[in-house]
Amino acid sequence: MARKRLVTSAAVRGKRVLVRADFNVPQNEHGEIADDRRILEALPTLRYLRENGARTVVMSHLGRPKGRPDPRWSLAPIAQRLSGYLGQPVPLLAPITGPDSRDRVRALREGEFALLENLRFDAGEEANDPAFAAALAELGELFVEEAFGSVHRAHASTVGVPQRLPAYAGFLVEKEVEELSRLLDRPTRPFVAILGGAKVADKLPLLRSLPGRVDRILIGGALAFPFLAAQGADLGATPVEEGLSGSVGELLERAQASHTKVVLPEDLLVEVPGRRDAQAASANRVPAGAVARDIGPRTRDRFYSELADSRTVFFNGPLGLAEDPRFSAGTREVLAGLLTIPGFHVCAGGDSARVAEDLGVAEAFQFVSTGGGAALEFLEGRELPGLAVIPNAAG
Ligand code: ADP
Ligand code: 3PG
Ligand code: MG
Repeated sequence: MARKRLVTSAAVRGKRVLVRADFNVPQNEHGEIADDRRILEALPTLRYLRENGARTVVMSHLGRPKGRPDPRWSLAPIAQRLSGYLGQPVPLLAPITGPDSRDRVRALREGEFALLENLRFDAGEEANDPAFAAALAELGELFVEEAFGSVHRAHASTVGVPQRLPAYAGFLVEKEVEELSRLLDRPTRPFVAILGGAKVADKLPLLRSLPGRVDRILIGGALAFPFLAAQGADLGATPVEEGLSGSVGELLERAQASHTKVVLPEDLLVEVPGRRDAQAASANRVPAGAVARDIGPRTRDRFYSELADSRTVFFNGPLGLAEDPRFSAGTREVLAGLLTIPGFHVCAGGDSARVAEDLGVAEAFQFVSTGGGAALEFLEGRELPGLAVIPNAAG
């Protein structure tokens, strides 16, 4: 994929620079930041802008609030963390647009920062509403795209604003495009995708272009449930997303046509009401009332044997409810196996990266992407909307 025009080619001194970051960080049940990799990864660009005298306005979404302010999804904890890392105040501007935020942005001095409140507090963000995009664009004179995790979204901040301002890529976006391009341009084979996680309806349609690009697809996590259900498995009380059998069928047909092997769980670990410990079950028959939470030991071994000769690996989505120690073994053992296998291994996804870190197996990866859905869509091989609007580098 062509290189994007980088922030280093912009004259930023004294300018108001709008930076789209992806601070959609994993949070714990108290709404506290559970992993701040996405904040850390944006720092080089933010520090570069400070050193070069920009007046920087950062913006992001967090979670999926429904187009109106909701304190549960405030960026206040992010502003605080950012301020700690940058060693200077990062005021949070709310409401996002309007005279108050405009005045405070205009009052910023060289090297200073402000953070806009959660973009999804305005319904205009996800709708890419022209009036909202114009109001955001008015806050800056230049735009820097640093939200790799969101470049698959055609929203106001990722498409509408860069259409209205001179637009550049930040260092994180440049690194992500460079590393993930290695998976598209003649990856060393066998190339194996390990897929799981919970955003099943989002992810399933994205998998259709993987057959042919990869040699094997190992499916675990909640992502496996619609596949098992389509085979007629009885999954007990496991919640299975409805309406996905078409996507499942299409993926399996495409895999067959391109000789890509799809490997589904043979056994599962399930939670039985009233029992503390995990129980093993066949993937065809989960006991009535039980809920599937992880892949079982036979599946772990099978996944490992499919990985043993691999030379390129893409991992997105924990293979079970890895936050619960009773259901973390699937993800932990498969990724620990990867530690012993040479090759280029990419971990993608906010939760996947956090889980790999928490389980002590992050070393299995040569590259950890900040994108989940974005990295999956990147693997489809087409240019994502938030990248297509950034001009390519000259020469
Ligand atoms: P990512 O953020 O890496 O793209 P997702 O958001 O799709 O991944 O999914 C991550 C979440 O999926 C994890 O927090 C994990 O607990 C959950 N998960 C995976 N498998 C299961 C399962 N079998 N049952 C319940 N939750 C699951
Ligand atoms: C992500 O976490 O994948 C990105 O921040 C995008 O979030 P979204 O799926 O809610 O658009
Ligand atoms: Mg996630």
